[in-house]
Amino acid sequence: MIEQTLVLIKPDGIYRGLIGNIITRFENAGLKIVGMRMRWIDKDFSKRHYAEHLGKEFYVGLEQYITAGPVMALVLEGVEVIEVVRKMVGSTEPKKALPGTIRGDFAHVSYQQADKEHKGLCNIIHASANQKDAVKEIMLWFDPMDLHTYKRAGEEWTK
Ligand code: PPS
Repeated sequence: MIEQTLVLIKPDGIYRGLIGNIITRFENAGLKIVGMRMRWIDKDFSKRHYAEHLGKEFYVGLEQYITAGPVMALVLEGVEVIEVVRKMVGSTEPKKALPGTIRGDFAHVSYQQADKEHKGLCNIIHASANQKDAVKEIMLWFDPMDLHTYKRAGEEWTK
């Protein structure tokens, strides 16, 4: 089934110049970028995005992290894209993320830095966990007018 999912390249990914690298992985995998915007969110917006984590012991650190700089938000489209993207992103904790995943390949630098400075968990990227979250998150970050689906070259190779 064709789905859409929300991806956020978090402030550490932006500061480390990883936008192109990360987007290339999704494009190479054949996933379609149907929306993209850069936004520096404030604490109120963080509370809306991470509503289910409000009150958890890590929330304050998470809010500091996600509001520390601009975030690149993407909407990706593809078959079972929510699960596919979560696989490509890897486990939440960089030390558990397999090599070849985005966190496994890029997040250790942020992880070490955060550990040294006793900050929360820095892991480069967010991806919607399930279909309900994806719908909610896409509505929060994007105006429907700014989402555009289209055919990618080579999409119609079957008859
Ligand atoms: S997930 O993706 O919801 O299944 O992951 P989960 O383990 O439930 O974590 C929820 C989000 O909180 C972030 N997180 C933390 N941030 C800062 N410090 C600590 N200790 C911490 N633990 C978890 C985690 O990265 C998830 O955010 P996203 O943006 O979804 O990755």
